[in-house]
Amino acid sequence: MMQCTDIHDRYLFRLITKKAFLYTEMVTTGAIIHGGCLDQLNFNNEIEHPVAVQLGGSDPSELAECSKICGSLGYDEINFNIGCPSERVQKGSFGACLMQEPKLVKDCIEAMQEATSTPITIKCRIGVNERDDIDFLNNFVSKIVNPKLKTIIVHARVAILKGLTPRQNRQIPPLKYENVYQLKKEFPDLEIVINGGIKDVNASIKHLEQVDGVMLGRSPYDNPMIVSNVDSTIFDEVDIGEDRKSILNKYIQYCLVQADLGHPLSKTLKHIFGLNRGLKNAKAYRSLILETMQRNNLEATQQDLISMV
Ligand SMILES: Cc1cc2nc3c(=O)[nH]c(=O)nc-3n(C[C@H](O)[C@H](O)[C@H](O)COP(=O)(O)O)c2cc1C
Repeated sequence: MMQCTDIHDRYLFRLITKKAFLYTEMVTTGAIIHGGCLDQLNFNNEIEHPVAVQLGGSDPSELAECSKICGSLGYDEINFNIGCPSERVQKGSFGACLMQEPKLVKDCIEAMQEATSTPITIKCRIGVNERDDIDFLNNFVSKIVNPKLKTIIVHARVAILKGLTPRQNRQIPPLKYENVYQLKKEFPDLEIVINGGIKDVNASIKHLEQVDGVMLGRSPYDNPMIVSNVDSTIFDEVDIGEDRKSILNKYIQYCLVQADLGHPLSKTLKHIFGLNRGLKNAKAYRSLILETMQRNNLEATQQDLISMV
């Protein structure tokens, strides 16, 4: 998630769950090839696995070049974004508008697969504009699949390409989980991961009766502790089992180290707003984070912050 799931946020999540698959923000091929934004591809090889990078683009050779780079960096998966509805992304002719061009998507996927042995996956919507019917999604997938494409993540809403902001595009089109369930029935050999409006691990369990995986976006970002039982509940492993205070303490120590390395507190502390979600002093906690960022002095407030979660 852009502006959210950066390297710092992923560090925070690895204090909470060892097993959940983490995804980077979308990185465009243009940013990598022409913008020299290679640092956007950094990840912490020691702790982040399993981790996927998400690429945005529509030029097969550029996507291939970027996939090669990402593959050599050691990502576990390279995800191709075919679901972003933003106007800026449409101007670059990528994201959700690519669902109208299955031939191009197929070429992109094949070029990416040829460039790296790292698995290529896609993330799409159920359709675009008025096409929110199951036939559109099935037809799209039938035109892009190949034996090496094993996983498709589907945000269970259409993308409205004109007239809605990206935010509205995550709220207004109704969720149609049934279309994703039907896709799994149509393509039983594909790993189908469902996304959109899924609040927590319990809700995920219901979906897992129909599909193979569940992707959660906003709810864990807004309340990271909701995934603290995911390792035991979904992956049958032992949870990390740390409480909020311990997680925040560890993350604050990380922020202090990062600050010494030149990463501003505004970039690292923004991810902890949700750590006191559901507690009484949310407003005071929020204010103290903002004040800490402004004064650029975490040493002075760290104990108070920890006491508030
Ligand atoms: C701030 C923000 C940034 C997002 N950035 C991306 C992105 O870079 N790539 C992507 O595939 N989806 C992105 N999304 C969409 C989410 O991944 C997800 O598909 C959507 O929010 C629905 O799932 P949810 O209800 O679990 O959040 C973003 C969502 C938000 C709120």
